[in-house]
Amino acid sequence: MSRVAVFPGSFDPMTMAHLDVARRAAALFDSLVIGVLHNPRKAPLFAIEQRVEMIRASVAEFGANVEVQSFDGLTVEFAERHGAGFIVRGLRAVSDFEAELQMAHTNRRLERRVDTVFLMTALEFGYLSSTLAKEVAQFGGDVGGMVPPPVAEALAARFR
Ligand code: PNS
Repeated sequence: MSRVAVFPGSFDPMTMAHLDVARRAAALFDSLVIGVLHNPRKAPLFAIEQRVEMIRASVAEFGANVEVQSFDGLTVEFAERHGAGFIVRGLRAVSDFEAELQMAHTNRRLERRVDTVFLMTALEFGYLSSTLAKEVAQFGGDVGGMVPPPVAEALAARFR
């Protein structure tokens, strides 16, 4: 039976930390569906279509077992729609743990067939967040190495 995982997130925008987790998850599972949450309660910097396109461009070299889709509603329902038995999340530091623990338990309570798998974010990207990358770009700083090239270009265009 093939092992399918989803990697959900806001990805506003994708960082090198997300990309690293996606690369490693793609090697662990038969297929990986990166799910970009459309959250009507949040005002993202990038529209959902643009976030999806930037991630598609960033993961293009990963191979055919990675796809990128937007979703709204529950992550476990997104996982079920894609026949996924796993949710992948990255952990940067202890500070991420509490919220991730709550989410993992909530998701398991909602759907026992779906398990959450955590990957430790690579050490060199452990400090990164989408929020920080946006702030650096907003004030004209260099985000090279913090975000994938398609995202760096989009940030530069946005704050030019
Ligand atoms: O990138 P983020 O913002 O840390 O990702 C959070 C995300 C999208 C994984 C989480 O908010 C989520 O799963 N939202 C979908 C709604 C849902 O399923 N809620 C119940 C479980 S927490």
